[in-house]
Amino acid sequence: MDNTSSERIRRRLIFFPLPLQGHISPMLHLANILHSKGFSITILHLKLNPPNPANHPHFTFRLIVDDDFSKESFNADLVSFLALLNDKCVEPLKQALLAEGDAVACLISDAIFHFTTGVCESLRLPRIVLRTGGVCSFLAFAAFPLLLEKSYLPLRDDRLEEAVIELPPLRIKDLPVINTPHQDMLYELVQEMVHQTKASSGLIWNSFQELEETSIAKLHQDFQIPIFPIGPFHKHNVNSNSNSNSNAPSSQNHSSISWLDKQVPKSVIYVSFGSIATIEEPEFLEVAWGLASSKHPFLWVIRPGLVRGAEWLEMLPGGFLDGLNGRGHIVKWAPQLEVLAHPSVGVFWTHCGWNSTLESICEGMPMICTPCFTDQRVNARYVSHVWKVGEQIEKELNRERIERAVRRLMEEREGEEVRERALFYKEVANVCVRPGGSSYDSLSKLVKYLSFS
Ligand code: UDX
Repeated sequence: MDNTSSERIRRRLIFFPLPLQGHISPMLHLANILHSKGFSITILHLKLNPPNPANHPHFTFRLIVDDDFSKESFNADLVSFLALLNDKCVEPLKQALLAEGDAVACLISDAIFHFTTGVCESLRLPRIVLRTGGVCSFLAFAAFPLLLEKSYLPLRDDRLEEAVIELPPLRIKDLPVINTPHQDMLYELVQEMVHQTKASSGLIWNSFQELEETSIAKLHQDFQIPIFPIGPFHKHNVNSNSNSNSNAPSSQNHSSISWLDKQVPKSVIYVSFGSIATIEEPEFLEVAWGLASSKHPFLWVIRPGLVRGAEWLEMLPGGFLDGLNGRGHIVKWAPQLEVLAHPSVGVFWTHCGWNSTLESICEGMPMICTPCFTDQRVNARYVSHVWKVGEQIEKELNRERIERAVRRLMEEREGEEVRERALFYKEVANVCVRPGGSSYDSLSKLVKYLSFS
């Protein structure tokens, strides 16, 4: 593609990320990739979790709605928050797109913003969807009508261990649901996400063919639209001056790396449960004691708000860290990509958000999985039973189970085998974004498609 400024003016892409960290980061990575291919980029955003323009001086940023409602609603219930966004952003998005004029090639919208279909149709603008999760979990979302019809959903406590024969290797407890008082609203939201994705002009994935071959084949059968698995996004060799770990909160703590520098190779457990999951105090204490009794050094991300009812560390037992003699390091936020690539880290204890799962796979890092909700459950099942690059703690968290999982992955032969498979996928992930690789080719097709849309 011609990289001249006149070309850039004609080929403007408008991105509209969902205002959650796990959705904003991949969208900004995608914007960087497409900018490097000659497109001009506008990012539309809300007040909640705004991107930092200083990290992306080559993009145009526009705040489209004064969404003071969103923070309160987000803290109350995720499902009603997402429904509210889909309602309140219609007119502001329309006005923002109208203001962009004719130079726009298309809107690239998060899949959860299903309302963007109607807005784009009214403006005769193509709409491409980015689904920031994995294909495996999306297929489980797409199966919700069937799961409801066959009574797998709503979940029943006495059937959780049963296999979902239509979606192997998932069990009922692996289905991507969420604890909400508004289950019907959840089903509706998922159904709209799936329908409006089907109605889109194309679907982009932060995943790669070799990792999700079977799921991608199934997706091709069920979705008659162009599909572009071009991940892992952060592995593309993008020559851009932006901060690639795109939307880190300013509280990111650089002490993580200097602490890791002092540790023995492959000795550290890195613990993070992503940007929105919360846990109860008893679970939190089991995590703390499990880490303490594992005898391994650990780097633990405790976000303010991670523990329900706590500001930050006040629920840690008194003297907890002092008793460890420097074996534990706690931060509010870590530079995760660097942490996972650090030679001292030996295992990643994760909630299995898709970004964390993919980032771990890209570094050949074995995972201990404790999924909290939605797609994390599906991802954890695939990590432990399809890719076999980690182990899930199946029952409720307690210190003995944690200690056992750490020992198996970090000290025993089983852990070595997991590590070998993880390193295999790391190599595949590296190769797929190079010339001739599956994601590289898929990206070329996407660029061509966007250029003529
Ligand atoms: C949410 C959902 O929970 C997840 O299931 C879905 O797939 C995406 O949206 P989140 O919980 O934030 O995401 O998890 P994840 O997808 O793993 O994304 C977290 C991102 O924040 C990762 O890119 C990770 O590298 C980054 N991160 C997290 C840091 O950079 N530092 C940290 O300390 C913690």
